[in-house]
Amino acid sequence: MRQRGLLLAGLITLGLGVAGLALLSAGALGPRAALDEPAARGAWIFRTGTRPDGSPLPYSGGMMMRLSCADCHGPDGHGLRTPMFISPDITYRNLTDPAGMLEPDGSRGSTYTDGLIRRAVVQGVDAEGKPLAWPMPRWRLSEAEWRDLLAYLKALP
Ligand code: HEC
Repeated sequence: MRQRGLLLAGLITLGLGVAGLALLSAGALGPRAALDEPAARGAWIFRTGTRPDGSPLPYSGGMMMRLSCADCHGPDGHGLRTPMFISPDITYRNLTDPAGMLEPDGSRGSTYTDGLIRRAVVQGVDAEGKPLAWPMPRWRLSEAEWRDLLAYLKALP
């Protein structure tokens, strides 16, 4: 009798565990749950160049192809070297470094503030107001989209 009781308890525990795991993975993989967080929505924008509903984010300038921040600045935002262009590390940590942002050539540029990062993304000018190289598009972002994107730049290690 006691053995059976233990077996039953074991089975129930196992069942609960499996149900819990299923719920957990549904939460982790479900797009809705995942896009609840600003940084998660920002990651979506960063990686796809689209809004979380799938519509393309408008921009002007840039290259012929439609590219996302990640396509040009790398999946981790640490910058890329391609035959067409060299792109800088755009993690928040680097852009706002008090010593000045580390440029791809190893020199130090100016220190960005939140407002200056936004201006760079929207108007295509650097922290000193000088135009950025042509591959960098000028993005049209709503207030909320900008906040989400900034949250993700801050989350990048
Ligand atoms: C087609 C390629 C391309 C795409 C797409 C792109 N960038 Fe850039 N970006 C560049 C290049 C190249 C530079 C460097 C320009 C320069 O050095 O003058 C740059 C510069 C920047 C800078 C200024 C850093 C500095 O050197 O002062 C920021 C901030 C930035 N990008 C953010 C973004 C964000 C955020 C996105 C996505 C919303 C994005 N970029 C999408 C190519 C791209």
